[in-house]
Amino acid sequence: MTDPKQSLPDAPATQAVDANEALGGSTRREFLVTATVGSALLAEACRHAPPVEDIPPGAPPPSELEVTLKVNGQAQTVKVDPRTSLLDALRERMGLTGTKKGCDHGQCGACTVMVDGRRELSCLTLAVMQQGAEVLTVEGLAKGDTLHPLQQAFLEKDAFQCGYCTPGQLMSAVGLMSEPCGAADADVREAMSGNLCRCSAYPNIIAAIQQVRRTPKL
Ligand code: FES
Ligand code: FES
Repeated sequence: MTDPKQSLPDAPATQAVDANEALGGSTRREFLVTATVGSALLAEACRHAPPVEDIPPGAPPPSELEVTLKVNGQAQTVKVDPRTSLLDALRERMGLTGTKKGCDHGQCGACTVMVDGRRELSCLTLAVMQQGAEVLTVEGLAKGDTLHPLQQAFLEKDAFQCGYCTPGQLMSAVGLMSEPCGAADADVREAMSGNLCRCSAYPNIIAAIQQVRRTPKL
């Protein structure tokens, strides 16, 4: 019986050997897997990051990238590992620890901030993906000694106990104010359902938000 390997034409086999040699001894499959995974990781990590143009072809992904964010009205430039979440960049690189880390998995809402006018879970977005974005954190709500109306309402309605979820609740409520949302308490509950409170301060949180929503704008 004919050996199937011997029946293969010579030319493609030779080309395959040449290709393997050109790839430094790696198999074609190893090369393709490495190239595909490597480019996907690099592209995702470096999207929008300015220094990426300076990375020579074939170089490994950089260990740190520079990212500039406008946080609470002030431009801040920090160097971060490309895998750093916006949450960790805010807390660990910019010292803005008002934004809390609850689950770090997009499930509790404690890390909510505003990014370019929309509420975002900062644990679920990479800092380098927000290059140039305007970020508003809980530290940016008050104007001097004057609390944001939502902060004031949370105080008046006793809308927290331990307070750990409160920055996220406040920032989510800030986002809610500019979103389409029905007038009923149930509508607010639904719109705030991504923000969990282990102390179950929900009724007072809803009351505080509704107080602000029902206050006529000047
Ligand atoms: S810490 Fe981001 S959703 Fe929980
Ligand atoms: S006030 Fe304690 S978790 Fe919400």
